[in-house]
Amino acid sequence: MKPTVTIVLGLQWGDEGKGKILDVMAAEADWVLRAQGGNNAGHTVEIGKEKYVLHLIPSGILRGKVSCLIAGGAVVDPTGLVKEIEGLTKRGIRTRGRLHLAAQAHLVLPHHRAVDQGFEKRRGSGKIGTTGRGIGPAYADKAARVGLRAGELALPSRDLARRIRERVALHNRASRGQGWVKISATKTIREVEAAARFLRPYLADGVTLAHRAVASGQRILIEGAQGTFLDVDHGTYPFVTSSHCTAGGACTGTGVPPTAIHRVVGVLKAYTTRVGGGPFVTEDGTLGHLLHGMGREFGSTTGRARRCGWFDAVLVRRAVQLNGVTEMAMTNLDGLDGLEKIPVCVGYRLRGKYLKEPPVDAADWSRCRPIYRNFEGWCQPTTEARHWKELPRKARIYLSAIKDLVGAPLGLISVGAGRDQTFRHG
Ligand code: IMP
Repeated sequence: MKPTVTIVLGLQWGDEGKGKILDVMAAEADWVLRAQGGNNAGHTVEIGKEKYVLHLIPSGILRGKVSCLIAGGAVVDPTGLVKEIEGLTKRGIRTRGRLHLAAQAHLVLPHHRAVDQGFEKRRGSGKIGTTGRGIGPAYADKAARVGLRAGELALPSRDLARRIRERVALHNRASRGQGWVKISATKTIREVEAAARFLRPYLADGVTLAHRAVASGQRILIEGAQGTFLDVDHGTYPFVTSSHCTAGGACTGTGVPPTAIHRVVGVLKAYTTRVGGGPFVTEDGTLGHLLHGMGREFGSTTGRARRCGWFDAVLVRRAVQLNGVTEMAMTNLDGLDGLEKIPVCVGYRLRGKYLKEPPVDAADWSRCRPIYRNFEGWCQPTTEARHWKELPRKARIYLSAIKDLVGAPLGLISVGAGRDQTFRHG
């Protein structure tokens, strides 16, 4: 069987516009599988005047014929998922029979949020800047083998209640020493039971579903959440999330084997942003000021203003290697429309040495200084372009240089939030 699976993931620190690119690509897909992460993600899709922000549900849900799976590598806040489904239902989007929740996925419960927020408070100025959604502690429970999985939502209520009571008791005992907020087991049981009643019809064996789709040659997109440098192994550790946001994570998260993958689409912005703490070599307050002034670059999950900086080719070159990117999808080109000069970081300087690869250690990474190559801005709107040739010549030069610097071909280019503001390179 010819491989039919495409991975779509972020090549920077998340918020690259994956939601929009996935929505466009889902027009030619049968399935969209969400591989990892939880409701820390916020994928924004604009269809005409309607704006949708999806946190857990794959963007494919907005295309009527597409089936969606929240796969086993994800962590799911059951109450949050219910709210998200209800929000879509109110807007006329059908989820029953189309959306599936893998029984293998781990649950995010109130005690995870208490630990997440407790740790952040203790870290003070060195905080990671997490979304506070309990993601790290949920993955920690999974690794420690004390987590609850979505499949347990189907347990008889007495057994589910016992499982929750045991886990909450463990948390409350530990919270005495740690200073975490204590959690009410009764309240948690009530909340989870209500969500369980709602979510039971959505439960499925995620791996069997994914494999049936692969075996029958269906066109599958695997949706990565966050971005390469938030990956717990390959990111700017410890300023990362707690899942594997890279291509390997797409396979472990869904159970789809690497041999079934035929394309890896890396989504990236024409500049760089990140939310929360951690190294950011090309950060530039003036660019941030400009983009925020245009109403751009505010987080879709937390509303926080994102940190902004110039395109960092050192970073993306590494992301291309890590993910085996076969093509890139460039978004937010229009964010640079008004600039006369556009720097691109081509290397780092650390203690007098020139680096072509990022350092391993986050503290060293923070000490790196960017080496820039300057490009001339095009100083005209790109938002009306619908073809490569309709882009200003200087914008084409900029994009071609990026492609050469990072070593991957350019596929889609996006010049605005609308579905139609997307076209292919060349
Ligand atoms: P957590 O995933 O909530 O634990 O947060 C860890 C780090 O990842 C923080 O810097 C967050 O701002 C960042 N992060 C988590 N999810 C996203 C996302 O979807 N987009 C951008 N940054 C994210």
